[in-house]
Amino acid sequence: MKVVKEYKLYNGVLIPSIGFGTWQIPNGKEAYESTLYALKKGYTHIDTAAAYGNEESVGKAIKDSGFKREEVFITSKLKAELKGYQIAKDEFAKTIQKLGVDYLDLYLIHAPKPWSVHSDGTEYTAQNIETWKAFIELYKEGKIRSIGVSNFRPVHLKPLIEATGFVPHVNQIFLCPGAIQKETVDFSKPYGILTEAYSPLATGRLFKVELMQQMAEKYEKSLAQVAIRWSLQRGFLPLPKSVTPSRIANNIDVWDFEISESDLDAIDKIVLPPWQ
Ligand SMILES: NC(=O)c1ccc[n+]([C@@H]2O[C@H](COP(=O)([O-])OP(=O)(O)OC[C@H]3O[C@@H](n4cnc5c(N)ncnc54)[C@H](OP(=O)(O)O)[C@@H]3O)[C@@H](O)[C@H]2O)c1
Repeated sequence: MKVVKEYKLYNGVLIPSIGFGTWQIPNGKEAYESTLYALKKGYTHIDTAAAYGNEESVGKAIKDSGFKREEVFITSKLKAELKGYQIAKDEFAKTIQKLGVDYLDLYLIHAPKPWSVHSDGTEYTAQNIETWKAFIELYKEGKIRSIGVSNFRPVHLKPLIEATGFVPHVNQIFLCPGAIQKETVDFSKPYGILTEAYSPLATGRLFKVELMQQMAEKYEKSLAQVAIRWSLQRGFLPLPKSVTPSRIANNIDVWDFEISESDLDAIDKIVLPPWQ
């Protein structure tokens, strides 16, 4: 697949094909400086969330960067624990106020259920549908340029689409070598849902994988660059995070090499080491 610097969502909105991830970057100096540096190094797409607690510093960095508002693609997310029509509207208002903007480029339902009940089998279908109706209204009012979900599998996507007839523009999921999420990706494609790949470096676990180290040597690139390039060549939108200036720059410098088809296939089959 040809690598592009922007994808076009099914509503025609253009979205830069690499986003700067900001999870676990504390509000204040760290979030401000890393976001500002990312913008300086060519990222024009910033991924934050109410749950990250850093929308204020991320927004201030965007404001101070010298870019015009329309030159930066800003994503934020509604907390997984907060669901419902009015809650979504109120939380959206708080998010744009913290970011210091008057619209968002992309707003996501952070997860189909609160993190605390993630594995107890309870589904939140009705609550997600009510939330989604608020998202659709905000979109139609022009307050958000595109709307989507995160951590949704087909079992969560289907009822949302059936109940409202409105297909999410984006689904942001955990996706990297070793976690290729075939079922969700295959479900999304025919609908035109763009798959964003969060934790494209497996939050650091990928650095221990020998095959990835070999690929980095073979292509004379960093392991992170190989992982990000793999994501792009597979048609996903990677969201690498770093607070380290040299890594921030390295992670977006992925345009001058190409991974062969057979190496892409080999990378698909990687098994991630367990969390330690
Ligand atoms: N929607 C969701 O539920 C969800 C969940 C998780 C993540 N996300 C999004 O996806 C983004 C990325 O995911 P992530 O934060 O899990 O992590 P990630 O991007 O997979 O990995 C980040 C880790 O790798 C290190 N790193 C980054 N670039 C490197 C390089 N070139 N060389 C060596 N090490 C490097 C970072 O270290 P340093 O920072 O110390 O440099 C950090 O420890 C998040 O920030 C967030 O925006 C979304």
